[in-house]
Amino acid sequence: MGFSAGILGVGSYLPEKVMTNFDLEKIVDTSDEWIVERTGIRERRIADPETATSDMSVRAAQAALADAGVKAEELDLIIVATATPDYQFPSTACLVQDRLGAKHAGAFDLSAGCSGFVYGLSVASQMIASGLYRHILVIGAETLSRIMDWTDRNTCVLFGDGAGAAVVGRVEDGLGLLALELGSDGSGALELYQPAGGSRRPASRETVEEHGHFIHMNGKEVFKFAVRTMPASCKRVLAKAGLTVQDVDMLFPHQANQRIIDNAVKHLKIDKEKVWVNIAKYGNTSAACIPICLTEAQKEGRLHKGDVILAVAFGTGLTWASVALKWAK
Ligand code: UT7
Repeated sequence: MGFSAGILGVGSYLPEKVMTNFDLEKIVDTSDEWIVERTGIRERRIADPETATSDMSVRAAQAALADAGVKAEELDLIIVATATPDYQFPSTACLVQDRLGAKHAGAFDLSAGCSGFVYGLSVASQMIASGLYRHILVIGAETLSRIMDWTDRNTCVLFGDGAGAAVVGRVEDGLGLLALELGSDGSGALELYQPAGGSRRPASRETVEEHGHFIHMNGKEVFKFAVRTMPASCKRVLAKAGLTVQDVDMLFPHQANQRIIDNAVKHLKIDKEKVWVNIAKYGNTSAACIPICLTEAQKEGRLHKGDVILAVAFGTGLTWASVALKWAK
C-alpha cells in the first residue's frame, strides 16, 4: 500500500423533531419502562415530511467537508450507505453530488444496512491507500421513519432518522486505517428486511395492505447474531492490527440495543468509559450511527491525534464490519 488513509473530518445532521417513548405510548401498546429496560432508548429524531435521506446527507456532508477543510470540488468519490434512499434509482449519492457541487466526483450507494458506513469507510480507505483517489466522502444516512410500521411495537420503537459523514484522505504515515474486517451471512437475509418494492415482490395493492414496504425483523435472531458477532469481530480486527483491547482508546459500537453493547463491553473486558453510547437520544439510526457518534466524540474533545479507535457494526444482510484506526486529526 502506498499511502496511509484516514479520516480528515466528520459531520452529522439530526432532525429537530424529537419523538419520546411517551409519544410512542400513544401510538402502540408499549411503555417507556419496557423500551428503556429492553433497549436503552429514551427518544429518537424524526425527519419532517419534506426531508429525505439526500437532504440530511448534504447537511452532514457540508459539516464534514468544513471540518476537513476540503472543498466539494476536491472530492473524487461520494459513497452513501443507506437502506432508505430517496428513490430506488438513481442513487442518493448522485443527488448529493449535485447538491454539493462535487463536479469531479463519482458517486454510488452502498447497501450493507447498519454496517454500511464501516463498509464505505473500508472501501474508501483502500482507494486512498492505493493512490487512486485523494478525497472520498463517506456518508451514512437514514430516514427509517418512512419505512417503519407504526402499528408494530416490535420495530417502531427502535429506529430513528439522521445522517453522519466522514471525509477520507491521505494522512501522516503511521496514522489512519490499521485493519478492517467485512463479513456477511446471507443465510440470515430474511431476519431483517423490507419484503416488497424490489424485483421479487413489486409494489401492488396487496404488498401495501400486507405492510410489505415496512421493516420486518426477527428481533431475537438479530440480537443473537449481534451478540455472537460484535466482540468476536473486534478481537479479530485488533489481532490483525497487532493490538489488544488495552490499546483501544475509544470503541464506537453500532447503536442498536444497550444490552448488545453491554454484552460486547463485558466480553471484550473494555473500560465502559471508552465506549461511545448515545442510543438513549437517537435510537438506532442504522448506517448513520457510527459517524454521528464520531462527530459527537470529536465535538466533546474525546478524540486525540494518535488515539486508537475501533468501530464495529452489524445489520441486515446479515452483515458485520469492523475497523481499527489511529485518529489522524
Ligand atoms: O441494527 C440492527 C437492527 N436490529 C437489532 O439490532 C435488533 C436486535 N434485537 C433486539 O434489540 C431485541 O430483540 C428487541 C428489542 C427487538 C426485543 O427485545 P427482546 O428482549 O428480544 O423481546 P422479545 O422479542 O423477546 O419480546 C418480549 C415480549 C413479547 O411479549 P410476550 O410474547 O412475551 O407476551 C413482545 O411482544 O415483549 C413484547 N414487546 C413489547 N412490549 C412492549 C415487544 N416489543 C415491545 C414493546 N413494548 N415495544
